[in-house]
Amino acid sequence: YEKLDVRPLRQRLLVVANRLPVSAVRRGEDSWSLEISAGGLVTALLGVKEFEARWIGWAGVNVPDEVGQKALTKALAEKRCIPVFLDEEIVHQYYNGYCNNILWPLFHYLGLPQEDRLATTRSFQSQFAAYKKANQMFADVVNQHYEEGDVVWCHDYHLMYLPKCLKEYNNNMKVGWFLHTPFPSSEIHRTLPSRSDLLRSVLAADLVGFHTYDYARHFVSACTRILGLEGTPEGVEDQGRLTRVAAFPIGIDSDRFIRALELPQVQEHIKELKERFAGRKVMLGVDRLDMIKGIPQKILAFEKFLEENSIWRDKVVLLQIAVPTRTDVPEYQKLTSQVHEIVGRINGRFGTLTAVPIHHLDRSLDFHALCALYAVTDVALVTSLRDGMNLVSYEFVACQDSKKGVLILSEFAGAAQSLGAGAILVNPWNITEVADSILQALTMSPEEREKRHRHNFVHVTTHTAQEWAETFVSELDDTVIEAKLRTKQ
Ligand code: ADP
Ligand code: F6P
Repeated sequence: YEKLDVRPLRQRLLVVANRLPVSAVRRGEDSWSLEISAGGLVTALLGVKEFEARWIGWAGVNVPDEVGQKALTKALAEKRCIPVFLDEEIVHQYYNGYCNNILWPLFHYLGLPQEDRLATTRSFQSQFAAYKKANQMFADVVNQHYEEGDVVWCHDYHLMYLPKCLKEYNNNMKVGWFLHTPFPSSEIHRTLPSRSDLLRSVLAADLVGFHTYDYARHFVSACTRILGLEGTPEGVEDQGRLTRVAAFPIGIDSDRFIRALELPQVQEHIKELKERFAGRKVMLGVDRLDMIKGIPQKILAFEKFLEENSIWRDKVVLLQIAVPTRTDVPEYQKLTSQVHEIVGRINGRFGTLTAVPIHHLDRSLDFHALCALYAVTDVALVTSLRDGMNLVSYEFVACQDSKKGVLILSEFAGAAQSLGAGAILVNPWNITEVADSILQALTMSPEEREKRHRHNFVHVTTHTAQEWAETFVSELDDTVIEAKLRTKQ
């Protein structure tokens, strides 16, 4: 056993995710600039340091020419990133189509897009074929860069077909797969035409991880009910081969946020924000502009709160920072216009010549501006209709150690399981309940705020991204070692 358990001092990791931590913007024929990508996966993995990691993924742009591809590969290599080049048609069918129009809404219990239901059903086969093709392209790149001893960690719903492709290349590869979204009830998963193919390919991995115990349980039920396999306390067994399935709740690099608050430029920003919103309580929403985030529901709840609590109308402001995402998918375009329409209506209704109740920004904020905003916030509103975890809630808590503001958190976010005791939990579909919780948060006593904040702060600072990754990778190592021992016996 000891012989098998010799691990390198710094474990070499190949992180494979659809999106690289940086997105590329072309500046000339052979020049590129790189910008940090938004999203929970990137945030969490950037917080992971104690590995010799390389990241394989799509750079978010179409690069048809060889000159451009070479230059981009070189620029990315400096960031320890390796690109997978996907052409426009594949991106359209795999990323916009199968991933974001089919799997994403389904895994978040939103079903298929209503108006396009039939069209989606018709295009399903070609989109699934593109999905498999794209996953094979990721596998090819992994295979080119794999060295013996590497751990290959695949991420998210974009790459459910990847574990199978990798094991076909090399059955000795240590392969883990982690899902950053919810895994839905097996009754939802079984409506997917490719339900069995996806489950079987994920099961080719040695270890399969989810944010919460419930998601892991749903996955095991889907394997037993749809594939007729045996679920065990450790995972799923198929003809004597066990795939370990477990929950590994993700976290953030909380120190990075706490340290940032001390920086002079962040302090300066905090000062400006305090002056700008003096005399008003600040409420904050930070989300990708995605239908799962429940942004229209949040804004309607805020409207209800203003309607019912006229004395608060000039004493509170809602800052909603919504970074555009997946803008080529029609459902996301519709959401943008819907949100603009609601915000305009409410500002018209409750605004004055000198102040508006909602500041809505359609853009990404840089890290320091975001930290300052979190720090001056009195009440954060996370109203996801479903969310794998929701790291915005963690980031808010990390930045609140002096203010001890209140977190209103959807019970349908994975984070409700870890921050539920400190937050006010709400059903985001119930606008009256959310409006009432806003009043409760704004009028909460300092003692109660301190108690709730302390609970959450301890959780966020102890369950970090680093700890999450170390636990997953060491469990993956153990799983492979145990499997080898079993086969030897
Ligand atoms: P998801 O993975 O669905 O995007 P999370 O809440 O887990 O949701 O993670 C979102 C990440 O993206 C967080 O790290 C957050 O800071 C970042 N982010 C989201 N919206 C913005 C924005 N408007 N500006 C800057 N960063 C953002
Ligand atoms: O957490 C879900 C997720 O799909 C992540 O994989 C990604 O970080 C984030 O949402 C952003 O989405 P996209 O890569 O489609 O912009």
